Amino acid sequence: MEYWVRRALEVVKTPFLLFDLSIVEKKYLEMKSALRKADIYYAVKANSHPRIVSLLSKLGCNFDVASKGEIEKLLALGIDGKRMSFGNTIKREEDIAFAYKNGIKLFAVDSEMEIEKVAINAPGSFVFVRISTDGEDADWPLSRKFGTDPDHALRLLFYAAKMKLRPVGISFHVGSQNLNPESWKKAIEVAGKIFKKAMRSGLNLSLLNVGGGFPVQHRKPIPSIEEIGRAIEEAIDEHLWFVHNLKLIAEPGRYMVGEAGWLVTKVLLKSERAGEKWIYIDAGAFHGLAETLQNFEYELRVLGKEKDELEEYHLAGPTCDSIDVIYDKVLLPKSVTLNDLVCFINAGAYTVEYNTQFNGIEPPKIIFIDDLTELSLEEKMKLRILD
Ligand SMILES: Cc1ncc(COP(=O)(O)O)c(C=O)c1O
Repeated sequence: MEYWVRRALEVVKTPFLLFDLSIVEKKYLEMKSALRKADIYYAVKANSHPRIVSLLSKLGCNFDVASKGEIEKLLALGIDGKRMSFGNTIKREEDIAFAYKNGIKLFAVDSEMEIEKVAINAPGSFVFVRISTDGEDADWPLSRKFGTDPDHALRLLFYAAKMKLRPVGISFHVGSQNLNPESWKKAIEVAGKIFKKAMRSGLNLSLLNVGGGFPVQHRKPIPSIEEIGRAIEEAIDEHLWFVHNLKLIAEPGRYMVGEAGWLVTKVLLKSERAGEKWIYIDAGAFHGLAETLQNFEYELRVLGKEKDELEEYHLAGPTCDSIDVIYDKVLLPKSVTLNDLVCFINAGAYTVEYNTQFNGIEPPKIIFIDDLTELSLEEKMKLRILD
């Protein structure tokens, strides 16, 4: 990637997300073989660039969408609504109606009111109920805001049936960047109990959605996709063996695109105050690095200075907002200085999607390595890859 960073700099200014589509293909194929029985629904929110979505579509992937905006992006690429699942549990009514009109038949719910909204705006659709998880081993937990407890989930399934919807199963999300395969096992055990109780009361469920959460290599060790796949299979054999023709869904976001991108930024300022050293770069919490607000730990590399002695810095973004601090304490080369390139490794997910124009500062754009290899300088100028 270092080579491509230098090549990209010939044609574009920082900050940018340097992206390698071939890694997305590799990750998709690896996940397919690790989760042989699952249909993969890429969580578009992780990175919705049309070239990423088109590639995944060509490979046969389905899509988890969160809003009308995402649905429209996919429809514009010729992707049928039948290949989409509306996984957001907080949907606008008009978005539900739009989804339904465009062939989406599968909706996530975790409350009575959401069921009522779906029943009115997408009558007769298939719904699955999201159960909550503790997000314990996740670096980006999604625990409090979503999902519900098993008893309530069961009641919701019956409520959906009463509302003339078709309740088909259970979903969960173990929290994004989850480092422990046991998290999926624990959630599948809970789902198994709900399936059993539903069945005893005359409701046969057939869908298990094991969500996202599949991790990307950052600073901590991560389990392989094969280990997670095995954990999921074992848990299904143990807790859902009685379900014939179980339809298994996985909704990876981060896993599919994280490794494919480096966020390349530049040092704008080095300063010292109250005895503490600060480095300011040209992207921050409002320009692609929102996840660092909850201390999401990217591996950092200052290009050309990888072997230099390290010291502790505060690392901050370029805006006039004091919340725009990326890391309160992080080790960077002692020699780091103006115009050095600070790269955030494996940052292809949830970076460009979180962009704002706050302070009038241009957010990172996405640059594909393919473009750097295939096009002449003149062609790149025409395509406006150049600033
Ligand atoms: C419903 C749903 N599915 C899947 C995902 C993707 O999660 P991840 O990026 O951890 O794989 C998310 C992320 O927020 C989500 O909300």
